[in-house]
Amino acid sequence: MKYQCYSSLEAEVTIAATAAPANPYLTDFLAPVSAEVTATDLTVTGHIPEFLDGRYLRNGPNPVAEVDPATYHWFTGDGMVHGVALQGGKANWYRNRWVRSAGVRAALGEPSPATRNLRAGMQSLGANTNVLAHAGKTLALVEGGVANYELTDELDTVGPCDFDGTLTGGYAAHPHRDPRTGELHAVSYSFARGRTVQYSVIDTHGRARRTVDIEVSGSPMMHDFSLTDKYVVLYDLPVTLDPMQVVGAKVPAWMRHPAKLVAQSVIGRLRVPGPIAAMVNRNERQAYQLPYAWNPKYPARIGVMPREGGNADVRWFDIEPCYVYHPLNAYSEVRDGNEVLVLDVVRYQRMFDRDPRGPGESRPTLDRWTINLTTGAVSSERRDDRTQEFPRINETRLGGRHRFGYTVGIEGGFLDSGRTQMSTSLYKHDYATGSSTVAPLDRELVIGEMSFVPRPATSPQELGEDDGILIGYGYHRGRDEGQLVLLDGQTCESVATVHLPQRVPMGFHGNWSPRE
Ligand SMILES: [Fe+2]
Repeated sequence: MKYQCYSSLEAEVTIAATAAPANPYLTDFLAPVSAEVTATDLTVTGHIPEFLDGRYLRNGPNPVAEVDPATYHWFTGDGMVHGVALQGGKANWYRNRWVRSAGVRAALGEPSPATRNLRAGMQSLGANTNVLAHAGKTLALVEGGVANYELTDELDTVGPCDFDGTLTGGYAAHPHRDPRTGELHAVSYSFARGRTVQYSVIDTHGRARRTVDIEVSGSPMMHDFSLTDKYVVLYDLPVTLDPMQVVGAKVPAWMRHPAKLVAQSVIGRLRVPGPIAAMVNRNERQAYQLPYAWNPKYPARIGVMPREGGNADVRWFDIEPCYVYHPLNAYSEVRDGNEVLVLDVVRYQRMFDRDPRGPGESRPTLDRWTINLTTGAVSSERRDDRTQEFPRINETRLGGRHRFGYTVGIEGGFLDSGRTQMSTSLYKHDYATGSSTVAPLDRELVIGEMSFVPRPATSPQELGEDDGILIGYGYHRGRDEGQLVLLDGQTCESVATVHLPQRVPMGFHGNWSPRE
């Protein structure tokens, strides 16, 4: 239908009437790709710093088969890892590979492995959220009790990962590496853990050396946590298991209420033995709905545990209902004789209340909680009210006081149900001055998370905190091209662009993995 516009007002009406896509998490920059590609000797514009010797890896959802746009949830797409290997100023290869969960193998017509490691976690969803290297292994990570997978250096799937049998029932998508010890700290959640979450420390040999079960108020979705030099900080927030999503759509309508009551009384309250939980999702049927939803009855709290403490040592602080996927960093310091904990996070007013397909129903902002551990007082402030996500810092400073943080500004796309095309920015925040700058990026470039790679130094204090490279995937609309984008951490100006053979969809999280 054509519109004749007589005034700017009518033009605005025409734009507002643009039909939203069936599912904004399946279109434009987020649309999945259909092929696994291997390309070598990639074209580079600019100069890749010589110290970058390794791989940039990033994970994200990319359904292997057709999905129903009416019910598809962004967080449940099959995992696909995209990697680029850099060495000697060159980009040696690009590869993208689906993580071979049981469902992906079945969809691709590949044989199932002879045995399944059900202790590693639930099997049918793929590990789609993060990817990192630890103790010589490449790990594709997810959360919620779903199995994680080990990959080869070239991103082929080895099999489920349970850290040599030391950590079962699933791990976490957001471990934090202690910059002093190299150990991975994480908090894992799963409905199978009952009313607990599990803090764990994976040593530098890739084995759990310590786990602590921590009691919470129910079965929350605990996507990330904060690690300081002294404390483990838990975000126990009101997005919790929705038992009906676990019971499934096959329950007849007249049975749904009693089934829900039964499910609520069992799932998320009692501990479910690991192999039984794994079997909940062991079949090869794809499950694309997320079983978590906003729960207005659930108390919003922040938990603070000394690193070597236990469940009884956790102090809980009430906060206003909200949701946090990603802290930027946290640290404690003494002010006027009081010990104060500073938590910088990206915060949402609400999550999975009105929109069950993804995180687009409220606009995430950069906020700070300050907890006075001496008096118990909690204060909250908004540091930046622009819409932004994917906070990263120079992680050699993790757990201590940071000066700089980087976030991705997002407008349109899934934040307005796809009515306008997504645009992105890169923000550099200076917490010392309270100011921020916007990276001078090409206007036709949209980006995802940007990781910070510090310039090598014998001691981090030798260099400025922002002396390094920001690296992540982008899509150049004008060139219709996927790119690996490298920016200077100080100026945020382009250092190099690696031109990729296909678009890399906006995904979740990535990390630089140096050659060992
Ligand atoms: Fe995340």
